[in-house]
Amino acid sequence: MNTLLLLAHPNLESSISNRRIIETISSLKDVEVHSLYNLYADKKIDVAAEQESLVKSDLIIFQFPMFWFSAPPILKTWQDQVLSPGFGFGAAQEDFKLKGKNLLLSITTGGKREKYHVGNSYNYTLDETLRPLQMMVNYCKMTYKGYIQSNGRPFTEKEDLDKEIINHTEKLIAFIKDF
Ligand SMILES: Cc1cc2nc3c(=O)[nH]c(=O)nc-3n(C[C@H](O)[C@H](O)[C@H](O)COP(=O)(O)O)c2cc1C
Repeated sequence: MNTLLLLAHPNLESSISNRRIIETISSLKDVEVHSLYNLYADKKIDVAAEQESLVKSDLIIFQFPMFWFSAPPILKTWQDQVLSPGFGFGAAQEDFKLKGKNLLLSITTGGKREKYHVGNSYNYTLDETLRPLQMMVNYCKMTYKGYIQSNGRPFTEKEDLDKEIINHTEKLIAFIKDF
């Protein structure tokens, strides 16, 4: 089973959670990591290379910090350019080149998970916040495998942050290995 992980973090040098998660996941066998901001600082995505990696993969993971209740903008640029008509979707069955592939979201949030509830400060669940990505999965006839979330900076104490990162990384490794 081949896994492709797309990392969308604009500043890995200052990252704590995503950097540590990625350092561990990168060492796993059969996992290809594309750090989108590092690869495409000029926002010009190598569409052919991205599509080739997608076609070879069974499991696709989007790894990102939540920014304004969405993913950082490079992921949208990637979607706009890579999931083109005739590859991601289209009028004919053969236009859905990602049909049946699995997508997992791996997200860090500054807001603690209890805030993502109706009646609490954000008033929407994380599941609801992630709807556009779930709709992308449906539209491309892929299979949504849910999400792994951990609490990150700036509202998590250092000791709790360590636990969150370790727990997140272990869940992600287990998911990839059991897949
Ligand atoms: C521009 C910006 C917007 C953010 N928006 C949100 C948000 O909407 N919801 C949230 O829970 N956290 C938000 N955060 C917090 C980040 O998600 C958090 O700092 C990040 O997940 C921590 O991961 P890192 O240590 O890898 O950078 C935001 C952070 C920045 C810099």
